[in-house]
Amino acid sequence: MTRVFSGIKPSGHVTLGNYLGALRRWAEVDQHQAESLFCVVDLHALTVEHDPARVRRLSRQAATLLLAAGLDPEVCTLFVQSHVDEHTRLSYLLECVATDGEMRRMIQYKEKAVRERERGGSVRLSLLTYPVLMAADILAYGADEVPVGDDQVQHVELARDLAVRFNHRYGHTFVVPRATRPQVAARVMNLQEPTSKMGKSDDSGPGIVYLLDEPEAVRKKVLRAVTDSGRDVVYDRAERPGLANLLDILAACTGGNPESLAAVYDSYGSLKKDTAEAVVEVLRPVQARHRELCADPAYVEGVLRDGAEKARASARPTVDTACRAIGLLPPVAEPSLSAVR
Ligand code: TRP
Repeated sequence: MTRVFSGIKPSGHVTLGNYLGALRRWAEVDQHQAESLFCVVDLHALTVEHDPARVRRLSRQAATLLLAAGLDPEVCTLFVQSHVDEHTRLSYLLECVATDGEMRRMIQYKEKAVRERERGGSVRLSLLTYPVLMAADILAYGADEVPVGDDQVQHVELARDLAVRFNHRYGHTFVVPRATRPQVAARVMNLQEPTSKMGKSDDSGPGIVYLLDEPEAVRKKVLRAVTDSGRDVVYDRAERPGLANLLDILAACTGGNPESLAAVYDSYGSLKKDTAEAVVEVLRPVQARHRELCADPAYVEGVLRDGAEKARASARPTVDTACRAIGLLPPVAEPSLSAVR
């Protein structure tokens, strides 16, 4: 059976973009079609300046929202990255296979490093090595497929390269993974800046709808979305990105098609109004389930405990094999010491 791994970074509140672009598909499709692992990748949230209490809070919230979005712990494995030591164990081994040049070429590193320096801050070493940890996340589980947004494809390609290189040098150890991109509504853009993605890290933007936004806040943000000059409603991503984004969101929420929806509307106003209501309706059941789960923290903790245990059991043999293959002496308790070259 195909194995799928994906992760969500608790560096900001989960957005409508995360939901329509990833979480919903994980819940509706991936977890049923593949043996799936979904991970709150908290170690990755430490690569830029962070507030410890906030990361903890956002990690719990992300896990709760994944459940609220429909991930079923009976069907998939849901866990927090730092609860499973295998990620950092393997990351170090992969650092011994990756090169510094490779790391410095990563687009996201270059962009984020520039941003940090512009802010007058320093760049954490972990920001540079982040893609290696991400490769470890994926390779530890022998994942075949990694559903990610466009901005993460380069990182998954690095994971592939490292897997191939490790296998070639030290013997077959890792499954070589590939990135998959969800077909529908993979890209929800910022409502105020429709040429950039609705990312979660730049918080409190008026162009970002959060999964836990109250209906009134959702309406306000959608109604104030930037649209393009022109009056007719047409679907044109290149020329009319603001409008296209609204049509994409409406289509993703109602199961329609953005081109045919464009034909239905003759004003921006009515399109915005319907889009706002469609978003409110999509978020409603997720928010209701989230409230229930928040009232039962012991349940969520239990899910994460069991998830970490399952994840550990799945990753440990692969990471142990990698340790042996690269030349580490097995701990003495292992009975087969003499059998290892
Ligand atoms: N880097 C991803 C992001 O910023 C999150 C992530 C970390 C991830 N490890 C992963 C995604 C492994 C898929 C697989 O969105």
